[in-house]
Amino acid sequence: MASLIEVLKQSELFLKSKGITASRLDSELLLSHLLGCKRSFLYLKSENNIEEPVLSRFQSLLFRRGNREPLQYIIGEVDFYGLSIAVDKNVLIPRHETEELIGIVISRFRNKSIGSILDLGTGSGAIGLALAKHFTTANVLAVDTSRNALSMAQKNALRNKIGNIRFMESDWFESVDGIFDMIISNPPYLTNEEFENTQDEIKNFEPKSALVSANNGLADIFKIIGTAGKFLAKDGVLVLETGSSQHEFIARFAKDYFGKFESIRDLGRENRFAFFEY
Ligand SMILES: C[S@@+](CC[C@H](N)C(=O)[O-])C[C@H]1O[C@@H](n2cnc3c(N)ncnc32)[C@H](O)[C@@H]1O
Repeated sequence: MASLIEVLKQSELFLKSKGITASRLDSELLLSHLLGCKRSFLYLKSENNIEEPVLSRFQSLLFRRGNREPLQYIIGEVDFYGLSIAVDKNVLIPRHETEELIGIVISRFRNKSIGSILDLGTGSGAIGLALAKHFTTANVLAVDTSRNALSMAQKNALRNKIGNIRFMESDWFESVDGIFDMIISNPPYLTNEEFENTQDEIKNFEPKSALVSANNGLADIFKIIGTAGKFLAKDGVLVLETGSSQHEFIARFAKDYFGKFESIRDLGRENRFAFFEY
């Protein structure tokens, strides 16, 4: 047996020795997850003892984190734009930039009637679900090639009680039918080299098929831009999250398909989001 505070001190040192920067925070998040309590409880009850069986379960979570498994996969969920999104190794962990994108879309189109939305490459369902929750009268179709991802996305719809969304297996537009007011996607856009140079948490745990695309990371983006026109309403919008160095190439490619291209920066001041209209 050891007290909460002693356990936290030891686990912080362990994670630090494994090169985890936020070693204290991660220790606290893992322990509060295991105990089913808020982080603040750990300090309110810092002298409480932890029983042996709980301690050994905590150690196994710590070892996973020490092995660089992302915290979100160990805990099994992440907060995304106010939704609780379950995640596992089959789906990309939704990123803060993607949350930013949701905020931009909601504020831009708050006065526009959005009846239908297509989310391409839905993964955990994060984008489609956040938009379905906000645009309550819209019907959202969310597609992916990964059946495992689709099953997680479906679970997330139930988990968040969101009904105006359906999921379908499709290679981008291949099985899609219909015309949409908004087509949105955060497709794979890394080069193989960029993927190999990412941190271990990404390289060793997140699905490569969700991250890497051929042709300097542009193949899937170009496929989507080149095909979207057949599925977009006349006054519709195509919205993409992209790599920060890709907008020059995207603008040039998109000229043949769209009259308007707008590049929007993320909070890190990187060109991250691309909006296309006719
Ligand atoms: C970068 S992840 C985005 C996941 C999620 N939308 C998000 O923003 O967190 C890209 C997603 O596209 C999916 N994907 C990759 N190739 C695809 C294709 N040809 N057709 C449909 N989805 C695809 C992957 O399985 C993955 O779920």
